[in-house]
Amino acid sequence: MNQDEMKKAAGWAALEYVERDTIVGVGTGSTVNHFIDALGSIKGDIEGAVSSSEESTRRLKEYGIPVFDLNTVDQLSVYVDGADEINDHMQMIKGGGAALTREKIIAAVAEKFVCIADQSKLVKLLGEFPLPVEVVPMARSYVARQLVKLGGDPVYREGVITDNGNIILDVHNFNVVNACELERQINGIVGVVTNGFFAERSADSLLLATPDGVKKINNK
Ligand code: 5RP
Repeated sequence: MNQDEMKKAAGWAALEYVERDTIVGVGTGSTVNHFIDALGSIKGDIEGAVSSSEESTRRLKEYGIPVFDLNTVDQLSVYVDGADEINDHMQMIKGGGAALTREKIIAAVAEKFVCIADQSKLVKLLGEFPLPVEVVPMARSYVARQLVKLGGDPVYREGVITDNGNIILDVHNFNVVNACELERQINGIVGVVTNGFFAERSADSLLLATPDGVKKINNK
């Protein structure tokens, strides 16, 4: 099984968490694209979706799945999304696709966060994948200097503007001892919209695709 086949297996396995006649939270990325294909196959059974990016919205609409504004939705039973890294505590780094802020908002609303990933995403320690930080454009240099003080090496992601009109700094070389603490510290820098640690709000379940099948791991 190649990596994309594993992503597909994880994406389709997440259908198990989708309840009939509900609105489903949908993340962003190549693994989620398989989940959207899976949702398309049962579109008559769900009320619709809330989406974490313009790209996922476009794909959902192609299937004829109604996409709701999150402000009109007061309850979301499940949010399904991928990750760039996930550890044993179900803490993640996300934002490789620059959709981290909307992803974090939907994850906060959802009762259950189901992470779908191939086995390459499971790590012992977070931080080899550079941490994406969404920043208001005028604060870019200031935020970069503050990130250096926290021990990171920020790199401006050239040519990328988020769906919210902001820029991304990818921070290399963080020594991640306490992801929750670092998540809070970075979010405390003026000009930061949010950062790609999903440590405070970790996943509730992980569907981890391996060549032997999809393993279901629940957060303790
Ligand atoms: C997008 C994300 C994605 O979930 C993450 O980048 C994983 O992507 P993929 O499924 O393509 O490997 O956080 O902002």
